[in-house]
Amino acid sequence: MNARQPVNETTEQAAASEDGRQPILRARRLVKTFGRVVGLDGVSLELYPGEVLAVIGDNGAGKSTLIKCLTGAEIPDEGQIWLDGREVHFKRPQDARAAGIETVYQNLAVSPALDVASNLYLGREIRKKGVLGSVFRLVDQKGMRESAKRELTSLGISTLQDVTVAVENLSGGQRQAVAVARAAAFGSKVVVLDEPTAALGVRESNQVLELIMSLRDRGIPVILISHNMPHVFEVADRIHVQRLGKRAATITPQSHTMTDAVAIMTGASKG
Ligand SMILES: Nc1ncnc2c1ncn2[C@@H]1O[C@H](COP(=O)(O)OP(=O)(O)OP(=O)(O)O)[C@@H](O)[C@H]1O
Ligand SMILES: [Mg+2]
Repeated sequence: MNARQPVNETTEQAAASEDGRQPILRARRLVKTFGRVVGLDGVSLELYPGEVLAVIGDNGAGKSTLIKCLTGAEIPDEGQIWLDGREVHFKRPQDARAAGIETVYQNLAVSPALDVASNLYLGREIRKKGVLGSVFRLVDQKGMRESAKRELTSLGISTLQDVTVAVENLSGGQRQAVAVARAAAFGSKVVVLDEPTAALGVRESNQVLELIMSLRDRGIPVILISHNMPHVFEVADRIHVQRLGKRAATITPQSHTMTDAVAIMTGASKG
């Protein structure tokens, strides 16, 4: 099989979808195999500016593999990925992050022993002004705490006003909030959340759903992987349905019911 695009197609044309709109993130015909197991079998995905795209599918349908290929955690065997119209070849998660794709995992997103402010600025610490910062690399703790507080307040996260608390003492939902705030604080182009509400209670889940909507309101598009149909139908603009390593359909909460979506997931309906 040949992963190269046809020579007569320019990168710009390839980066736009069939209907001519320019996705912020586009994947075309991604293939990923693990030995004899086919994780992804020619999957395409489009994420448009300012939308929440949910990715649903049964266990093993290829959701996590798809997201890993988009965020540099796996390298696809074949296919292409464009971010902002430019083709990208991420080799590791840091590459995707540097390019503006912030991925939030349920457990790995934050360092438990650090306080909230330090977590927000992990890897992007604000240095003190002058030689103290540039030569001695001293971190501006006070500045980071103040801007962490501002960032959380602007996202409407009011249960987390003490930014000096260690993250290990936070609830699951509050940890998610810190992780999402990180993404928002650094002006990410895309935020990817893999099962963010899976281990959370009702109140915390609602808090995360509100955060997703506030990211969208700030113009940051979100990819949300979830098994929770009510959550998906509450926040998603469009829904990418994975089935057996392929994209079975892309639907919307207006075009289809939850029952329809489950039927497509399980193969009972073609959509
Ligand atoms: N590192 C790996 N090695 C071998 N097989 C893998 C690996 N990662 C994924 N797979 C296989 O690829 C297929 C897709 O897995 P993936 O984790 O993407 O599914 P998923 O849709 O995220 O499922 P779930 O809902 O259970 O999280 C499965 O058959 C899985 O066993
Ligand atoms: Mg998964």
